[in-house]
Amino acid sequence: MISPTFPAELKAALDARLQGFSRTDAAQRSQKISTTYRAGGGSGTIKSEADALAYALARMPATYAAVAASLSALIEIAPDLAPETLLDVGAGPGTASWAAAEAFSSLQDFTLLDANATLSRLALELARDSSRLSGCRYLPGDAAANLAEVSQADLVVASYVIGELGESDQRKLAETMWAKARHALVVIEPGTPAGYARILALRQQLTAAGAFVAAPCPHEKPCPLIAPDWCHFNQRLPRSQAHRQIKGAEVPFEDERFIYVALTRAPPAARGPRVLAPPDVGKAEITAKLCTEDGVALAKVPRRDKAAYAGARRWRWGDAVLSES
Ligand SMILES: C[S@@+](CC[C@H](N)C(=O)[O-])C[C@H]1O[C@@H](n2cnc3c(N)ncnc32)[C@H](O)[C@@H]1O
Repeated sequence: MISPTFPAELKAALDARLQGFSRTDAAQRSQKISTTYRAGGGSGTIKSEADALAYALARMPATYAAVAASLSALIEIAPDLAPETLLDVGAGPGTASWAAAEAFSSLQDFTLLDANATLSRLALELARDSSRLSGCRYLPGDAAANLAEVSQADLVVASYVIGELGESDQRKLAETMWAKARHALVVIEPGTPAGYARILALRQQLTAAGAFVAAPCPHEKPCPLIAPDWCHFNQRLPRSQAHRQIKGAEVPFEDERFIYVALTRAPPAARGPRVLAPPDVGKAEITAKLCTEDGVALAKVPRRDKAAYAGARRWRWGDAVLSES
């Protein structure tokens, strides 16, 4: 499991950029960005260097944590995956590239694509002194157009991006990203019903094109959840003091709800049921909602079954229940 917090180099690079940056100004700018997002808008309001920093301060820790959790889930199911090349589509400040560098020591070549020149500049500044990312390429402009020009990469990642596109552009981008993914494609979205619907549509489109689902689903069948239920997970991450100030938050942690799909070209070696909600640990038994190959199941593990109960006590929302776990 990759840590949900920034690696030291990213923290230091961001802290250096934040020297002398007013927290009040950052809070106002990030509020404006969040309001636009909630109203269904995209990152178009990020125009100045200060906007980009406010975005990085307010959102980058949580998106990093969500990407780290999604890549951890992929690694658990596909432990032999050792990508050397990465395409980070809609990279913004480079969040997913940093998480992928932590997840895969094999990565040597990073290509970031984004339409927002201000975020791209910030990404390059943050990466400048990095031992892993300093040589990254950043391609400005529309991701779909750029993808047509670049070579395949072992791993393609799109974090919190497809929600900024219309439906038909989402389909086109999904097709292109899959065509560019030599081994795996990971797409992450906010854990809202709308984010889930986008992931579901992409999953359906690409499994029909031959993709295997490494995570979160233990199958390629239609999703068994019935609305208003929706699949999503939670990643808790600590909040720095600066982050608390900008968010006007009291608690020293943040819970990021997210949804993802990790698709591979090779069939996953071993998959297991996925825990879809926090398990209920009762006196007599543990009850857990699982996504299985045969649909959603409510597993009940009685306390008297000591070994199984001890195993089930370790289940967390989002875990895969593999035979050895
Ligand atoms: C919410 S931000 C996410 C950034 C980053 N992936 C992260 O997780 O922090 C969405 C990013 O997608 C980029 N984007 C949206 N549509 C795009 C397109 N058609 N081509 C390239 N980039 C795009 C935006 O410029 C923005 O940087």
